[in-house]
Amino acid sequence: MFREAIERMAPYTPGEQPRPGQRLIKLNTNENPYPPSPGVRRAILASAGAALRLYPPPRADAFVAAAARLYGIPASHILAGNGSDELLSMIFRAALGHGDRVAYALPTYSLYDTLAAIQEARVAAVPLGPGFAQPLDALARERAQLTIVCSPNSPCGTLAMPDDLDALARRLGRRLLVIDEAYVDFAEANALDLVRRHRNVIVLRTLSKSFSLAGMRLGLLFAQLPIVESLLKVKDSYNLNRIAIAAGAQALDDAAWMRRNVEKVKRTRELAQQRLRALGFEVPPSSSNFVLARLPDRDMAPVTAALRRRGILVRHFPASVFRDAIRISIGTPAEMNALFKALEPLIKPLLAKRLRTRAGK
Ligand SMILES: Cc1ncc(COP(=O)(O)O)c(C=O)c1O
Repeated sequence: MFREAIERMAPYTPGEQPRPGQRLIKLNTNENPYPPSPGVRRAILASAGAALRLYPPPRADAFVAAAARLYGIPASHILAGNGSDELLSMIFRAALGHGDRVAYALPTYSLYDTLAAIQEARVAAVPLGPGFAQPLDALARERAQLTIVCSPNSPCGTLAMPDDLDALARRLGRRLLVIDEAYVDFAEANALDLVRRHRNVIVLRTLSKSFSLAGMRLGLLFAQLPIVESLLKVKDSYNLNRIAIAAGAQALDDAAWMRRNVEKVKRTRELAQQRLRALGFEVPPSSSNFVLARLPDRDMAPVTAALRRRGILVRHFPASVFRDAIRISIGTPAEMNALFKALEPLIKPLLAKRLRTRAGK
C-alpha cells in the first residue's frame, strides 16, 4: 500500500512513556525534572478561550517575536516548529531526494536515520572521534548535500566548539549545515551566532529540554532568509496551535526561570558524574541534561531491565556501539538518589566479577 522504502524501513523507537497513574522515575527521554514557569500556565489558560474558534497565525507570530527578542535575531530569520522534530522533518523533505547524501556522526539522535530512510537518502555515517568528539574534518570531506552536527550530541553529551563549527560551515561552502542544539542551554557555549555569518547554516533549538515544555511541542529554527523562505514551502500551514504559541512566547519571556532550572540540573549532573565514576563507570564529560555511563564491553540491557523492575527508566541503545552504556537523564536530587540506591547493588557484583576475571581467578 505504501512506497517500498516505507514498507522496508524501521520506525523510530521513542523511549517509554509511562501510562497515566503509573509511578516510575523517568530518566529515559531527557525531559526537565522541574516544571515550566508559572507564567506559562497562566498564558495557556488565557489562550484556551473563544479564539480557539480561529486558525492560529501561520508563522506563530507571538512565539517567534519572543524568540527574536530573546536571541537578538530578526523574526524573519526564525521558523517555529511543532517540536524541533518537525523542523528536522521539514529540512529533510526540502533538502533531500532519492539517492542524495546526508552526513552525520554516529551514534547520534536516531531520528536522523528515520528521516533519511523516508526520503530514500543515503547516509554518510562517520564514527565519532576520540573522546566521542564530533569528527568535523571527516564530515567536511563527505561533501554531502546536508550535514548535521548534534551539539551537545546525544547520547554522549559532548559539545562541538563554535569556532570549529564555523570552520566546517566555511568548508561546506553552499552545502547545508544543520547544528542541532536541542541541549545547548546546558552547555558553556553555543553556535547561534553562525547564522549571522553563514548563508548555509541552520541552528535548531527546542523548548522540550531546558524550558521544561516537551509536552507542548515547541521548536525554533534560525537561518538566513533564503533558507527560511524555502522551508516555508514545505511547512504545514498551521503547524503550531494557539495554546502552544502562547505557552512558547511566555516561556521565552520568562527565560530567567529556565536558567535557574538549568543551573540546578547542571549541579546535579556534576554530582551524578562523580558518583557514577566512583562506582566504576566511564562517563564522558556531559554538556547536556543527561550522562552516558559506560562499562566497556558489557551489555547493559540486563541492568536497564533490572532498573525498570525497580521502577526506574533509563535509556539503552541495544543496536549501537553504546550497548555497553546507559543514558541517564538528570532528575531531581531525590530521583538521582533513588537511581543510585537501585544501581549500586546491580553494578558492584558485575565489577567484582570483572576484577576476579582479571586476576585470573
Ligand atoms: C538531539 C535532539 N534533537 C531534537 C530532539 C527533538 O526535540 P523536540 O521535542 O523539540 O521535537 C531531540 C529529542 O530528544 C533530541 O535529542
